[in-house]
Formats: sequence, structure tokens, C-alpha cells
Amino acid sequence: MKGFRASLLRFVAGDELERIDDALVVVDRGLIVDAGDHGALARRHPGVEIVDWRGLLIAPGFIDTHVHFAQVDAIASLADGLLQWLERCTFPQEARFGDPEHACVVADFFLDELARNGVTSAMVWCTSHLASTEAFFAASARRGLRMIAGKCLMDRNSPATVCDDTERGLAQTEALIGRWHGRDRLGYAITPRFAPACSERQLRGVAELARAREDVWLQSHLAETREEVAWVARLFPGSRSYLDVYDRLGLLRPRSVYAHCIHLDDADRVRMRESGASAAVCPNSNLFLGSGLFDFAAAARTRISWALASDVGAGPSLSPFRTMLAAYEVARLAGVSLTPGLLWHRHTLGAARALDLADRIGNVAAGMEADFVALDPRATALLARRSASAASLDELLFAMIVLGDDRVVRHTVIAGEAAVRVG
Ligand code: GUN
Ligand code: ZN
Repeated sequence: MKGFRASLLRFVAGDELERIDDALVVVDRGLIVDAGDHGALARRHPGVEIVDWRGLLIAPGFIDTHVHFAQVDAIASLADGLLQWLERCTFPQEARFGDPEHACVVADFFLDELARNGVTSAMVWCTSHLASTEAFFAASARRGLRMIAGKCLMDRNSPATVCDDTERGLAQTEALIGRWHGRDRLGYAITPRFAPACSERQLRGVAELARAREDVWLQSHLAETREEVAWVARLFPGSRSYLDVYDRLGLLRPRSVYAHCIHLDDADRVRMRESGASAAVCPNSNLFLGSGLFDFAAAARTRISWALASDVGAGPSLSPFRTMLAAYEVARLAGVSLTPGLLWHRHTLGAARALDLADRIGNVAAGMEADFVALDPRATALLARRSASAASLDELLFAMIVLGDDRVVRHTVIAGEAAVRVG
């Protein structure tokens, strides 16, 4: 049993954030046993070994709901929009992941970077190569992480180096579910790339697998750019919309997460909400590629489930602070002001809810898994200066969102243990 003493940021009464100035978080065997005011808890748990982090702010670990581990070397690549970026910059990088050694090296680098940025769980894309998926799950298992991931399925309109055989891809998916789903803290996501890169036969196979295994996740891309939407309309002339392609095949369901969801109409949004599917909102990626702006007002109006994501490598940063700031700025362009509490929620507890994991991760509370971060509101001179004059918790959170990056994350705790850097 171990107790971490610091300030504490946690969700109470549903989705409200509160701060306890002097708190104790008691952990045992990977779980949070107790969390609250230090005075009361120290009496309740006499003799626990104390880790003294006073001056820091313990907060729930961040959750990235959409990220491609094999695209770390595609970050910062020049291209004229999504489809050119995929063809020229991304697929050549992904093609290298048939090599197990390369996949292992990048998986470890990527997980080190997630920890450094305070991200404790993520919904991750591997490439179409079995080796990339095995490498990612094995590396996550070694670190005791709660991760969801899947092998990318793409059997058409893609270069041969990353294109997959329809039946083999589905058989490998089934085998990977058997090998990794539910092992330690790992979960499997069936991962069809997007409608233009998946044959109807492949998508029907995906639907069959998804129907048979409601406990398994499903992830894809949806309505990211206008050019892509027009391509889907040509490929699937019988569908009312891009979302309708997935809907008709039965691919919208709880535990399904669709990245981007920009070019939708309200009929699509209502269907998304009814189906229990969630949107992974990737504002940094959307700005970088010039894809469009997620409509936060329409999302609120239609009450779709959404959470934040980096979408590295189209997104240039794994930092949740950079993503929250971009979400704020994108919403401002439409005249909407997202509150600091909402931004923080959609990268922690709200993200856990979108992944149907809110009973385990996303908050620092008794019974939850002990995945949390210790943040330093004085990490940089400017942030120290601005946070010193913050008159409320909202102001402090907003200062960290606007001015923060990986330097704010002083410790990342995974299952009660400080994350150890590999390599
Ligand atoms: N659509 C299909 N594949 C991808 C991808 O790798 N990144 C992004 N941003 N969009 C996609
Ligand atoms: Zn993506």
C-alpha cells in the first residue's frame, strides 16, 4: 500500500471537477483504495508509505481516443490534404511495419512518449501487418497498460505494401481477438481503415465479427474531408450519406469510435447518438491537414457522444494540452466557448465513457485503476506567473490548457507505479 500526497483534481457529482488542496491518494495492487483529504485519510490509513508530491496536482491520466502508433515518423510531413498525405507520407511509413523489429522499436518509443505526455490509455491503430499489432500489444502488456488497439483492415484502393487480403485480414483479426482481448488490461478494436479502403465484403465480415463480440471495440474514420465524402458517395451510390454506409452494414454500436465526424448532417448525428457510437474529435489533425472544423454546437444540440484525440501522425502532437487548446480554438471559430472543465472531461472521464470504461479509468476515486498524473502548474516561467494569479480552479485549468505541454507532466503513474522509460 502506498499513498501519494499532493493536491488532487477529480470529478465529483457526475462531471464536476473539484480540487482538494492537500490530498492523499492511496493505492494498492494497481487500484485506488481511497482518495480525499489528507488529514482524514492519513488517520484512516496509518503506516502507509508516503510519496510526497506536495506542490504538484494529481489528476486523472489522459485518454487519447484515436491515435496511430505507426505514424510517429509521419508527423510533420508536407501534403495538400488528407488523401495526398496518406498516399505520399503515411503509407510509406506504415509499409515498414511488416518488420517486427521496427514495429517493436516504434511501439516502445510511442509508449514512452504517451507516458511523457500524461496519456495513460488510448485507442490505438496498428498497421495492416500482423507484426505491428503483436508488437504493440506485447509492449503494452509489458508496461501493464490499459490499451485498446487493432490491426488495420484495408483491402482496396491502397498500395500493395499496406493492402491486405480480405479473408486473411478477417481471420487474423479473429485470431488477435482470441490472443489479446481481455488479456491483462488490453482490449481489441476491430479496425477497418475507412469505407474507401475497405471492400463491401470486408465490411460485411467486420460486421459479422462485431455482432458476435459485443465486448470487442470497433474503430474507423468518418467524414474527415469533403473530397473523401465525395469519393464515398461514388463508391456507395445507394447510401444516403457516408455515415449511412457504416449504418446499413451494422457498424454503428456502443464501443464503436469514429474519428473526425466533421462533414455530417443532423440526421447522421441523431443516428450516431441512437446507435451508441462515439466521435473521436481530432482538432489538431483537422487544422494541420485543413480537413474542416468539428461542429461542437451541432454535437451539443444533437447530444452525440464525443471525446478528444490527437490523431498522430496527422495530428502533430501527443500532448493532451495541445489537443484541448485546439478544440477550444476550433469551437471559438464557430462562436462557441468550451469550458476548461468540459475540455478536461472529454480527455479523461468523458473519453473513458466514450470507450465504455468509465467504471475503471478516467477519474481518481476509490475502486478505479491507479492510472494518474502529477502536474506542475509552475512548469514554465510563463505558466507559473499565470497560474499564480488564477482566481479559480477554472482559471488554473485554462492556464494549463493554453500554456501547457509535456513539461507540465512531472509523473505518470500506471497501475500504481511510476511509468518507467524504456530504452
Ligand atoms: N483516413 C483513413 N486513414 C487515415 C489516417 O491514417 N489518418 C487520418 N487522419 N485519416 C485517415
Ligand atoms: Zn486516424
